[in-house]
Amino acid sequence: MKPTFYITTPIYYVNAKPHIGHSYTSIACDVLARFKRMTGYQVYFLTGTDEHGQKVAQAAKALNIEPQALVDKNVLTYQNLWKALNISHDDFIRTTESRHKEVVQAFFAELYKKGDIYPDQYEGWYCVPCETFWQETQIEKGLCPDCGSPLEKISEKTYLFKMSKYEKPLLEFLEKHPDFVYPHERFNEIMNFVKSGLKDLSVSRPKSRIGWGITCPFDEEQVIYVWFDALVNYLSALGYKKHQDLFDRFWPVDIHMMGKDIIKFHAVIWPTMLLAAEVPLPKKVIAHGWWTVEGQKMSKSKGNVVDPYAVISIVGIDAYRYFLLREVPFGLDGNFSEAALHARYQADLANNLGNLLNRTLTMLEKYFDGIIPVNGAGKHIDKFEKPAGHLLADIEKKLADAAFSQALESIWEIIDLANKYIEEEAPWKLAKTDQDRLAVVLYTLTDVLRLVAAYLYPFMPGSATKIWEQLGLSESLSAINLKDIKLGQIPAGTKVQKGVPLFPKLMP
Ligand code: MSP
Repeated sequence: MKPTFYITTPIYYVNAKPHIGHSYTSIACDVLARFKRMTGYQVYFLTGTDEHGQKVAQAAKALNIEPQALVDKNVLTYQNLWKALNISHDDFIRTTESRHKEVVQAFFAELYKKGDIYPDQYEGWYCVPCETFWQETQIEKGLCPDCGSPLEKISEKTYLFKMSKYEKPLLEFLEKHPDFVYPHERFNEIMNFVKSGLKDLSVSRPKSRIGWGITCPFDEEQVIYVWFDALVNYLSALGYKKHQDLFDRFWPVDIHMMGKDIIKFHAVIWPTMLLAAEVPLPKKVIAHGWWTVEGQKMSKSKGNVVDPYAVISIVGIDAYRYFLLREVPFGLDGNFSEAALHARYQADLANNLGNLLNRTLTMLEKYFDGIIPVNGAGKHIDKFEKPAGHLLADIEKKLADAAFSQALESIWEIIDLANKYIEEEAPWKLAKTDQDRLAVVLYTLTDVLRLVAAYLYPFMPGSATKIWEQLGLSESLSAINLKDIKLGQIPAGTKVQKGVPLFPKLMP
């Protein structure tokens, strides 16, 4: 039996169009999922969409269509983008699917039966035009902070979840699991937040006001709060209490990945819900930083929202993936700028990796008719042995900390070394003086490129596959176990297939 690895993205709101920030969460998970598959794990990589809530109901009303019709249309923007970005999820869950709704209702009913969900009255100030609730502390002179309309004081029924009851158990858990939240600064934030006290949480709203959500199983008039509904997706996708086999194989989840904005939902509310339901807690919650664009927060009103398709159409899918992962140390905020994207493309991809492949294959064609020379095999080249020998352990360690940028740096050290090797050996001179050494140099370069392609696959699956194919290798790259990839393994005598450059010059 293979060891298992369960990783999740948050489920995305379908009412907004996906931008670089959303794609970052999915790409980060994709790299980890692919790397785990290539190191012998059975992976369950889950993503999906969050389809309930007032905003969806409002948007549908404005278009004069049913909310379900709206979400059925909008979900495609996410599904198509993930396909375009080569995201290799094993499951895509939608909160409007019955497999999800049934689990949410059963989970809600279970907590109610236990007395952890109880009826109450909710009081707040309501703005009818905005359909928004405001707290006393958020308003001035009884007017809506958004549109300035007079507010109505509303008192309505709600069900509360006894989150306060789980404050102590959660603290005890956090004390025992200092790695539960990563990066560590976020763990401290969560710890302090829990220490400051947990209040009971309103987990339902009147159906008459929200209009679009999962009906409370014991009160037809109420719908379940969207966040309560959404978080349960991590259980419902595995068939909680229905497909015990699948559930037992993958739960507890290894990694919940997300942006730092929603860490409290995942590291405070979610664990208390699980404690109430007596389900083991997640192993790790990882929060990445926030992407800005040319130093500014992305927003529709500023018109600076970066559409992933626009970037891909210029630099390609893999350069896009590479840039997001390489540019910022994980956990920190990142700034997207065209200048930075072009600089990385040119330096790391076109000049470094692309050139290495191009030069190697050109020389092979020129000096050996495109055939990896047999008399070049079996000679150890010390300078590659050491970094190649350490690569798996090194990358495994870095990816365990989601340090994508550093993991890529390790691969680029080998690429740099190979480019230097070409300069030092000057094959164009060897061609005139030493055919044997020329054979060793070109065998070694193709061999190193094979190793580089295998390690690049989780990060840049399309480009890695192209390198692999240009090297004339036929095995499926995705089926390779990185533990089996060593130097000296490229079959001599193979005919390479030089193709178009991987990273062509960008249009100015
Ligand atoms: N629907 C909730 C999640 C429910 S999970 C049970 C939600 N959706 S979201 O669409 O708003 O965000 C999804 C992911 O995109 C989050 O990880 C969020 O942090 C990420 N990002 C959205 N904008 C972002 C940036 N500008 N930068 C980086 N990531 C950001 O929250």
